[in-house]
Amino acid sequence: MSDSASAEGGRTAPSGPRHVAIIMDGNGRWARRRGLPRAAGHRKGVEAVRAAIEGAADAGIEVLTLYSFSAENWRRPADEIETLMGLLRRYLQAELADMHARGIRFRAIGERDRLPADIVKLIDEAEQTTEENDKLTLVLALNYGGRQDIARAARNIAESVARGLLSPEAVDDDLFSSYLLTAGLPDPDLLIRTSGEQRISNFLLWQMAYTEFIFIDKYWPDFTKEDFAEAVDAFTVRDRRYGSIKSGR
Ligand code: IPE
Ligand code: IPE
Ligand code: MG
Repeated sequence: MSDSASAEGGRTAPSGPRHVAIIMDGNGRWARRRGLPRAAGHRKGVEAVRAAIEGAADAGIEVLTLYSFSAENWRRPADEIETLMGLLRRYLQAELADMHARGIRFRAIGERDRLPADIVKLIDEAEQTTEENDKLTLVLALNYGGRQDIARAARNIAESVARGLLSPEAVDDDLFSSYLLTAGLPDPDLLIRTSGEQRISNFLLWQMAYTEFIFIDKYWPDFTKEDFAEAVDAFTVRDRRYGSIKSGR
């Protein structure tokens, strides 16, 4: 059998995603459907965060990135923002020890300046405490915007060029990636969005050039680790071509 025939016949074994990113959407609608305030949906959503982390750990994922608060979510009413920040604060306080014990490395992406100062402190502490861990990297996107990330990288690159530290010819995709907040992380292989909406909402725009998308028709508070496992299974049979063609076809 020639090499090309064997490549055609015995396709490479399906491999799982290294990096899964999730747009956790639908807390408000979950609550509204039950006649509850939106805050109740956000509270229940925290339980689904735990389920997603378990699902990622079970699947042996390297990086799990959760879109927790977008740069545009400041447009929401003040009391809802207060609720979300309160839940984030409590989550970081309550979970750090357990996260560390489980070998999870914590990282946050987004503009920290606008977050409450005590939360920034908790984030710094969580990042420092878990720095050496290597089981799963949990990335929370907090006050994150994809366009803002790209604009910031461009600004920093321009500054380096202006100061004579970088030549314009050195700016290619890899260099650009290294200036983004996700520097050092692999690009997401799989994006999951719950709630039935099918859009990116300014998430990891640059990083998702070749990401596979899975949309789940469930509100985020109902998301389970089985949903995570199912999405990973569905991912493994996707045919990722990166602009090329499959050998033998
Ligand atoms: C996701 O649920 C949580 C955040 C965006 C912080 P939503 O609050 O967006 O819920 P819906 O989309 O209004 O149902
Ligand atoms: C995206 O959800 C942001 C997060 C899940 C944190 P949104 O609910 O804010 O997105 P849109 O407004 O429906 O696009
Ligand atoms: Mg929403």
